[in-house]
Amino acid sequence: MTRESWQTRIGFILAAVGSAVGLGNLWRFPWMTSENGGAAFLLVYLGIVLAVGVPGLLAEFVIGRRSRRNPVGALSDLSDSKGWTAFGHVFVVTAVVLLSFYSVVGGWILRYVAASATGAYFADPGAYFAGIDYGIEAVAFHLAFLGATAAIVLRGVRRGIESATKLMMPAILVLLVGLAAWGLSLDGAGAGVDFFLTPDFGYLRANFLDILPAAAGQALFTLSLGAGTMVTYASYLGEDRSLVADGTAIATLNTVVGVLAGVVVFPILFALGAGAGAGGPGALFVSLAGAFAALPYGQVVGVAFFGVVALAALSSSISMLEIPVSFLVDEYGVSRPTATASFVGVFAVTGSVCALYPNVFSFVAGTLVDLLLTGGLVGFLLFAGWVMGRGALDEYRRGAGGLARSLATPWLYAVGVVIPVFLVFTFVSGVAAALGVTVEPLSVLGVTLDQTRVFAVVSVALAVVAFLGLRRPDSVL
Ligand code: PHE
Repeated sequence: MTRESWQTRIGFILAAVGSAVGLGNLWRFPWMTSENGGAAFLLVYLGIVLAVGVPGLLAEFVIGRRSRRNPVGALSDLSDSKGWTAFGHVFVVTAVVLLSFYSVVGGWILRYVAASATGAYFADPGAYFAGIDYGIEAVAFHLAFLGATAAIVLRGVRRGIESATKLMMPAILVLLVGLAAWGLSLDGAGAGVDFFLTPDFGYLRANFLDILPAAAGQALFTLSLGAGTMVTYASYLGEDRSLVADGTAIATLNTVVGVLAGVVVFPILFALGAGAGAGGPGALFVSLAGAFAALPYGQVVGVAFFGVVALAALSSSISMLEIPVSFLVDEYGVSRPTATASFVGVFAVTGSVCALYPNVFSFVAGTLVDLLLTGGLVGFLLFAGWVMGRGALDEYRRGAGGLARSLATPWLYAVGVVIPVFLVFTFVSGVAAALGVTVEPLSVLGVTLDQTRVFAVVSVALAVVAFLGLRRPDSVL
C-alpha cells in the first residue's frame, strides 16, 4: 500500500496550524498569562517561541520528512538502534496521555456550545461548571468529542485531516477577529489590553526564573512540540519545499491566534470587573462564561466563542490520534479503520478515568504533559543533532532558500547543543517541583550556589554526558 501524502502545500500548513491552534491558545494561554504577570509573560513566551519553538519545529519536520514514518518508525529507521526504537514508544504513551485529558476538556466545550444557546449557565456560572466538570455526564461528552475526532481521522490524511482543517482554520480566524472587535468595544476593555500588552519590567526582573519554565512549557504545548505530531505530519510531505518557510508560517499563525485569544479574553474579563485574577483553569468556563451571561448579546457571543474553541480543539485532537494510528498502520500493517478503532477503545477508557477523577485529570493535564513534552522534544533535538547529523543538514537544506540555507549550521548547533541544555534545565526544575525537592544553597570553592544554579550545573553535566554518549561518525557537532 502506498503511504498517503498531503494534496497541497497549503493543506499541510493548515493541518499543522490546526494542530498547533487549540485549547493551548484559547484556554491554557490566557490562564498561564494571568498567573504569570500578563504582558511580562507574553514577552518571555514570544522569545521562547522564536528561539526554541521554531528550531524545534524544524527538527521534528526534518525527522519526519526524511523517514516518511511515524515517530517510532522514524527513530528506528534513521538510527538502526534498539535504544532509540524503545524511546520512540514514549510518543505513543504521550499521545495517550494528551488525548485523554484533552478529550475531557473538548467534551466540556461541546457542552458549553449548547449551554450558551440555552443560557443554561447564565444564572450561576460557577455552580453550573462545578456541577458538570467531572462525573458520568462528563464521560458522555468526552466520548462524543472522541467520536468526532475519530470520524475525521478514519477518513485519512487527505479526505479527513486535510479537508477538515482547510474548512476549520479560516472559520476560527474570522470568528476570533469578530469576537476581539466585540470585546474591545466594551466599556473598560482598555485595562485588559494594558494588562495583556504593556509589560511590567520590574515584575519581569523579579520573577524571571518562575516565568521561564512556565513560558517554555506553554511554547511547546501550543506548537504541538515533543509529542511527535509534527514528525507525523511532516512524514506525509511529498515534494521538496522549504521546511523553514513552512515552519515559520506555522509558528507565526499560531502566535497570531494566541495573541488574538488574549485580546478576546482579557478585555472581556476586565470589562466585567473580574480582572486577570479570575484567570485560572476555570477561566473560560466560569469567568468568561459569566461575562457572556452579563453582557449584551451574551448567548450569540457564547455560542460563537465556544464554537471557535470546539473547532480549534478538534483540529488539535485529530493530530493527537493520528500519532498512534500512523504507528499501527506503518509498523504493523493494520488498516486505518482497525488502527483508529483500537485506539478509540484505549482512549474511551483512559479519558473516562480523567473525566471521573479530578486529581488524575490535574496531574495528567499539568505536570505529566509538561514533562513528557519537554523530555520528548529533547529526544528529537538530540536525535537530529547527534544521530542524523549530516543527514539532518541535508534534509533541512532541501528546498530551502538562500537565507535559510545560510542558517543551517547555526540551526544544528542550536538544536543539538543550546536548546537541549535549556530544556533539560526546565525538565530538572519541573521534576524537582513535582516531587517537592528543594536544594539548600551550597558553597563550592567560595561560590554560593542557590537552587537554580545547582540545577543549571546538573543540567549542563547531564547534557554533556548525553552528547558524548550519542556521538556518531556522522555527527557534525
Ligand atoms: N497544540 C495543541 C494546542 O495548543 C495541543 C497539542 C499538543 C496538540 C501536542 C498535539 C500535540 O491545543
